[in-house]
Amino acid sequence: MKYREVFILFFLAFFYTENCAQKNISVISQFKKTSLLFSIDQKGKADYQVLLGGKQVLKPSRLGFLIDENQRLDSNFKIIQVDSSIIQETWKPVWGEVKTIENHCKQLVVRMELQSAPYIKMNIIFRVFEEGVGFRYEFPLQSSLKFFTINEEFTEFNLTGDHKTFWIPADFDSNEYPYTSSKLSEVNAWKFPIISSGNYQTNIPDQYAVQTPLMLKTSDGLYINIHEAALVNYSTMQLHVNRSNYGLSANLVPDAVGNKGYLRTPAKTPWRTIIVSEKATDVLASKMILNLNEPSKIENSSWIKPTKFMGVWWEMQTGKGSWSYTDNIDSLSKEGKLVPNGHHSANTTNVKKYIDFASKHGIKALLVEGWNIGWEEWTGVHKEDNFDFVTAYPDFDVKEIALYSKAKGVQMIMHNETGASASNYDRHMDTAFRFMNRFGYNSVKTGYVGKIIPNGEHHDGQWMVNHYERAIKKAAQYYVMIDMHEPMRPTGLHRTYPNFLASEAGRGNEWNAFSDGNAPDHETIMPFTRLMGGPMDYTPGIFKLRHYAKDAPNRQMHTTLAKQLALYVTMYSPIQMAADLPENYEAHLDAFQFIKDVAVDWDDTKILEAEPGEYISIARKEKGKANWFLGAITNENSRNTSIILNFLDKDKIYRATIYEDAPDADWKNNPEAYRIQNINVDYKTDLKLSMANGGGVAIRFKPIVNK
Ligand code: NOJ
Ligand code: CA
Repeated sequence: MKYREVFILFFLAFFYTENCAQKNISVISQFKKTSLLFSIDQKGKADYQVLLGGKQVLKPSRLGFLIDENQRLDSNFKIIQVDSSIIQETWKPVWGEVKTIENHCKQLVVRMELQSAPYIKMNIIFRVFEEGVGFRYEFPLQSSLKFFTINEEFTEFNLTGDHKTFWIPADFDSNEYPYTSSKLSEVNAWKFPIISSGNYQTNIPDQYAVQTPLMLKTSDGLYINIHEAALVNYSTMQLHVNRSNYGLSANLVPDAVGNKGYLRTPAKTPWRTIIVSEKATDVLASKMILNLNEPSKIENSSWIKPTKFMGVWWEMQTGKGSWSYTDNIDSLSKEGKLVPNGHHSANTTNVKKYIDFASKHGIKALLVEGWNIGWEEWTGVHKEDNFDFVTAYPDFDVKEIALYSKAKGVQMIMHNETGASASNYDRHMDTAFRFMNRFGYNSVKTGYVGKIIPNGEHHDGQWMVNHYERAIKKAAQYYVMIDMHEPMRPTGLHRTYPNFLASEAGRGNEWNAFSDGNAPDHETIMPFTRLMGGPMDYTPGIFKLRHYAKDAPNRQMHTTLAKQLALYVTMYSPIQMAADLPENYEAHLDAFQFIKDVAVDWDDTKILEAEPGEYISIARKEKGKANWFLGAITNENSRNTSIILNFLDKDKIYRATIYEDAPDADWKNNPEAYRIQNINVDYKTDLKLSMANGGGVAIRFKPIVNK
């Protein structure tokens, strides 16, 4: 990876208010249309504002902390120095939506110090980008501050009105919620419409708090996204909503004893991010969060490879099979051996069936869940040392599967569910990764369902944030890629650790298996919320959309089949699952062809159209190839649109294979009706697309002739 960094020191503009003696100071930093205004008043209280083209986006918003129980770091400051510089670099992600990323912004560093003892120093670093502002606090190494406890972060994001908001409640342990769109003044986590059952909602102490990424739209058409970048050794930021003045304030996830974090100088917080644009498409195209993360720490990344995979998985999710080998764990203590239940999915014969199917259709990898002892008591119980991550059930032959998959050219993906016993996983990680190396697993899906052990810690607290990072680093040490389920939502850390391919950390397609599912607008909101921080293992590609759940035979998904195909393009991830059962793909091999063809790594991405809660259309160019793919989705309403294909190479004619909803398709009444058309197109073609209610369209463009 090559970096070109140019730092130019800038002339500083200090604007003193009328009375210089009182030292009201404001500093402006502007980059293109975006401005950041930092101010400190005569009491030494600091705040900031964000403007776009002169229009206020954030009103004066407070900065600071309460540390060590009674030390305030929100007033009595004086500025000791202000530095400004330009950052301009171009970098190449190991994998991603585009080949090259431009990081161009203006940096403003405000160095402050308390005006009386203990004279603590605190810096605020602002970066102003074309599409928004990021800022972080920095605590330099100093004799007056070494180890300290964060009791509260006071950061505010004061909005200018009662904006439309796409939100999920501020649970400390789960982000797997359906989105509610409401006005800010209507946010109420205890009243939001729950459309699911069996949720793992565990801790919503503040009914007026929400999670980030938080997506907002103003009445005059500004799109605002608030999140954080580079969440490392710190607690996740959730936001309390002040419903009367539309202010948001940081609400850090506490630890087991109620503290919000522990730092040692020199220390820095994650970046707080405010993306803003007049165009919704700019929000999805923004690389600001990635740019605020550190460059890759993995020098040789040639072993890191995006992939598509299948899984011995959906059959357990829908109740056809089980993760556990026995239905009677107590037989172990009585007779010394497990009694098989007859429907354990991860058995060698069944796994081979999946390997055969994947191999035949060129799907390169296979995940098998439920292969290892422990699933009888994997969650909902306080059992710290449940899994050892290396002992298979008697019907899963590790060696034979390793040999068979290798012979068939299918890469096995390891599964390490921890049952949220993170301390147990910490103790076993080396053994688990050695096992992966020995049997040829090059990636792992981890999981953290349940209440965290150590007791009282939360999925989104600092202790777990550090645990997930340890797991990513440990995986890298063993050349293993990682996909985490149930971690805190991502903040762009995959730039720093590109072996961290994806996470779930949101409400995936799997909720359609065991609950009332995801509403038709869900996937039009997710890219603006959950996906802002990084790729999601959403597990698209369900073809059998009705009557698939064993215990709820009338269950049906709120999507058409064509929309399931479009999600491979609209829900970005470098690992994409073909999530349905082989027999359901056998029934629609012509549509399955799109899943076989679609790429997982890209040279370029064009966000063509987007409106949160309504629709999204995206085109992407396959990495190192001339093929383009397009995915377009709609919410519960049908949609007609037309796209000029001006992203295509001007010198080529392409064969477009269009997978679209049949004219009579409808997510509710006729979800599996699709049609496939082949036409020739070029960059001038104005392509008409029609989507059914809850529908979508997926297109592959393959060059056939050079003009
Ligand atoms: C929840 C995960 O999201 C799901 O994909 C997995 O199958 C189960 N946990 C079991 O680990
Ligand atoms: Ca999950």
